Amino acid sequence: MDLTKLLYGGDYNPEQWLAYPEILKEDIECMKQAHINTVTLGVFSWSVLEPEEGDFQFGWLEQIIDDLYENGISVILATPSGARPKWLADRYPEVLRVDEARNRELFGGRHNHCYTSPVYREKVRIINGELSKRFGSHPAVILWHISNEYGGECHCPLCQQAFRKWLEAKYRTIEELNERWCTTFWSHTYQSFEQIESPSSRGESMLHGLTLDWKRFVTDQTADFIREEIAAIREAGSDKPATINLMYNYEGLNYHKFADLIDVVSWDSYPTWHKGEEYLTAVDNGMQHDIMRSIKKKPYLLMESCPSSTNWQGVSKLKRPGIVEAQGLQAVAHGSDSVLYFQIRQSRGASEKFHGAVIDHTGSRETRVFQEVKETGRLLGNMGGLLGASTESEVAVIYDWENRWAVEDAMGPRNKGVCYKETVEKSYRAFRKQGLNVDLIDMEQSLEGYRIVAAPMAYMFRSDFEKKVKAFVEQGGTFVLTYWSGIVDDTDRCFLGATPHGLADVMGFRRKEIDGLYDGETNAMLPTDRAAAVFASRERYSCQRLCELVELTTAVPLAVYGEDFYQGMPAAAFNRFGEGSAYYIAADAEQAFYDDLYRHVVDEAQVERILDCRIPEGVEVNARQTEEAEYVFVQNYNREAVEMDLKDEDYEVVHGKKGTAIPPFGTVVFMRRKSGRA
Ligand code: GLA
Ligand code: ZN
Repeated sequence: MDLTKLLYGGDYNPEQWLAYPEILKEDIECMKQAHINTVTLGVFSWSVLEPEEGDFQFGWLEQIIDDLYENGISVILATPSGARPKWLADRYPEVLRVDEARNRELFGGRHNHCYTSPVYREKVRIINGELSKRFGSHPAVILWHISNEYGGECHCPLCQQAFRKWLEAKYRTIEELNERWCTTFWSHTYQSFEQIESPSSRGESMLHGLTLDWKRFVTDQTADFIREEIAAIREAGSDKPATINLMYNYEGLNYHKFADLIDVVSWDSYPTWHKGEEYLTAVDNGMQHDIMRSIKKKPYLLMESCPSSTNWQGVSKLKRPGIVEAQGLQAVAHGSDSVLYFQIRQSRGASEKFHGAVIDHTGSRETRVFQEVKETGRLLGNMGGLLGASTESEVAVIYDWENRWAVEDAMGPRNKGVCYKETVEKSYRAFRKQGLNVDLIDMEQSLEGYRIVAAPMAYMFRSDFEKKVKAFVEQGGTFVLTYWSGIVDDTDRCFLGATPHGLADVMGFRRKEIDGLYDGETNAMLPTDRAAAVFASRERYSCQRLCELVELTTAVPLAVYGEDFYQGMPAAAFNRFGEGSAYYIAADAEQAFYDDLYRHVVDEAQVERILDCRIPEGVEVNARQTEEAEYVFVQNYNREAVEMDLKDEDYEVVHGKKGTAIPPFGTVVFMRRKSGRA
């Protein structure tokens, strides 16, 4: 997508202020002062845009778009399908969602509609077309914001019917479905597709193949809805790019399936800052940024973030001074071409009246929040050179939605906290501590171009993942696998024979058993003599939750268990295969184990780090590339300043100070010109 500037601004809901013309005027002045250059309009405007069926009232919106344009402010225009008007729900009850217990919802809330309903699709198609005709070539409009935070599922009769058709297209015969879902278990064999019902706590919830396919269907049905929304815009003449705003850690939809439907990925980030150490929040939020970036492996947009406190989390804490700047720059560091807030002006009533905003109820430009927003806008204004800059990464961690669905539903050695995301985060964090950009890709994505791939808790092998891994290692790649990997196929049927499936030779071991540990229980991982240099800092590491027992064939042990009946058995191992290397971590090791092992792995694979100095705990390093230069971001998420040995000669400072300590929540951005091009 071609932008002309880094976008700065956020959601703006002027329909809540139409009775206050002086406020609408004042808002534009505030935006200009805060260096805001973009707002998102119309996300929840349907009842104002179409107060009666077929009666379109777009004049107010046109006026606002024109006023913004005259003031140099661009518009991201939303389609309004995220919440529908009352008349629509009253006249066409089929648009309302049915929950898993088969109860139809009442009108209310938002995101409360069926994605299958032909009536809902038609009504959305009509209003999207009208919006496209009227505003699709307005020079202020730069991007379509399709609906809002797609999510949830519907179990209505229309959805059931669509699900059965989806299953029939996938399996062709009911015998094949029975085989793949293992339905002879508990005598649940189906005789026809017509008998199938979506999973329900009142009915079937133990056929894991059914549950998985239902989730895949929900993703596909949502994708189909998105496709129709965008098609309506295109058919009515607008070719402006389109995005959907994704959510933090949202499990319900496999976001990768939307990659090809949209022009740019965007997401909404609401980290709970100051809940414990800030750097832990920064790592977690950073990982989400990288997950979102890796969906298209392209620059993306931060669509929403809060400049102050939210109001929907258990406790809504104010952001300490400096966090607005830090979180905004963190987004840009990870590959975002925008910093956008929810919202510009705080709502007067209803459920978001206390949600933080750029302009609060006082209307003042002197508030602490406004001043921080203004300052962040000012410094982003100096970073235009970064626009469209790419993120290059030689390291990937596998983060796979379908695997997550399966592993959390599996009913295995731990149902209480199998901790997939946390396990992925340990690998991610260990690489990030080495000062590396990291991609988070799923099993369908290619491994080409990577030097190191880590697959934590890759329970389900799908999409020929094991074949890709084998070729990758054969040709010289470095692969890391953890416990509880390569166990089931893509309908959650256990592989028969040696596991990790298809990789027993690559890894040089065979799985035998896996032990679930009670909360609070630990075992130890003791480095072997041959690995003493790798684990120089410690004589033992602890592990918890899951301990896998394996028999090594060609691999050599790097650590052994310290306790219990499997004391002395391998707890980590290394194997050479083809031109490459394979590492295995048998248990849920503490972070320090990952940190020490991955330092060695990165050294061995000779992956170049962004900085050639030690990175203190709590410091994030990222790099983005343009043709002319590399931009390096160094962010300190500690509550104390940190000293870093950044070599002054090599770089020009874009933001922050040269040669001094980096203050708490402070950022240094510098630029290294590419040789031969300066
Ligand atoms: C979500 C929604 C917004 C708003 C914010 C509040 O991200 O998309 O409309 O409700 O939450 O944090
Ligand atoms: Zn439905």
